[in-house]
Amino acid sequence: MIAQRAQEISPFHVMDILAQAKRLEAQGRDIIHLEVGEPDFDTPQPIIDAGIAALKSAKTHYTPALGLAELREAIANWYQTRYQVAVSANRVVITPGASGALMLVLGALLERDKKVMLADPGYPCNRNIARFVEGQAQLIAVDGSDNYQLTAEHINAHWDDDTTLALVASPSNPTGTVLSRQQLSDLAAAIRAKQGSFVVDEIYHGLTYDGIDTPTVLSVDQNAFVINSFSKFFGMTGWRLGWLVAPEQYVPIMDKLAQNLFLAAPTVSQYAALSAFNSDTLAILAQRRQLFEQRRNTLLPALQSLGLEVKTTPQGAFYIYANCSALLNERSPDSMALCKYWLQKTGVAVTPGNDFGNNLAEQHIRFAYTTHEQRLLEAIERIKKSGN
Ligand SMILES: Cc1ncc(COP(=O)(O)O)c(C=O)c1O
Repeated sequence: MIAQRAQEISPFHVMDILAQAKRLEAQGRDIIHLEVGEPDFDTPQPIIDAGIAALKSAKTHYTPALGLAELREAIANWYQTRYQVAVSANRVVITPGASGALMLVLGALLERDKKVMLADPGYPCNRNIARFVEGQAQLIAVDGSDNYQLTAEHINAHWDDDTTLALVASPSNPTGTVLSRQQLSDLAAAIRAKQGSFVVDEIYHGLTYDGIDTPTVLSVDQNAFVINSFSKFFGMTGWRLGWLVAPEQYVPIMDKLAQNLFLAAPTVSQYAALSAFNSDTLAILAQRRQLFEQRRNTLLPALQSLGLEVKTTPQGAFYIYANCSALLNERSPDSMALCKYWLQKTGVAVTPGNDFGNNLAEQHIRFAYTTHEQRLLEAIERIKKSGN
């Protein structure tokens, strides 16, 4: 018998799209993938080289559950150089991706039947991991008027006796919107007044545009929990490596949970990541960030020219979340149907809104600009020609 908690976790709808895309590719169709939530760039060579060197010198044993001391130190230094924020290496916990960090945080903070407040639309795994630990997701509908982010006003209006923490992502998936220092500070103050915990997923830090400042929440609240990862900015999705910064008094509980849930993050990946902060690597990553910005600058007006509405300009990550109401019709009455129609008719794969929550999900589609500019423009041409 399958446990209720597992049954209640929803699969990603985009998997249907992916399966259909694979079938079409097997028939020889050329599919443009705008549904993929990972950079198309390979891991920077200095990191790969460090990984190979680690393997050659047989770095193949477990590390401590909290992670390699050198990597924890390197991440602490990163906070100093990148954000001018002092973070002790003791507070850094190395995890298998941000996913591992989310499991630690929700496992440690979310009591059975208690609530974690989340923005809807938002990253789907948050509510599923909340369910996995027998807690509840308290979904708050957000839209362009609040930059698709939780605000201090949401905290004050919706926090109830069962709410214990709020989790935000900045930049956000799927909307790419960013919280300013003031907004982070207001959220932190509102949550502190409720005696709750504040968790900020900073996985898309480094991938921001228009020259905006993306402060870490630790610059306004040293008691916040930060989730981050080597997956996106550092281009290491397949290495399964991320981290958590927790207040000092929570580190022993994170250590205990890490020991029991995954023992330690992958050792070779940890050694490889020691090269992630080198100047050579950072120079490669700076160029890639620029390319993502150019792609966003190309794709955004092109989508708008199709009749798709984007309420706030995404300033980070590699996603555009667009309202497709103007393109819905009898044949494609909702975003899922439209995504399937586009894939079949034009070979363009995108993600329907219902992967990100319930709030106007059937009228939204996420476009990931994780492919090069020419292909983005070709996708737009194909959609244009299809007459929707
Ligand atoms: C907002 C957000 N958080 C966390 C993750 C998990 O990433 P990983 O486990 O690869 O670090 C993702 C992946 O897409 C994401 O978009």
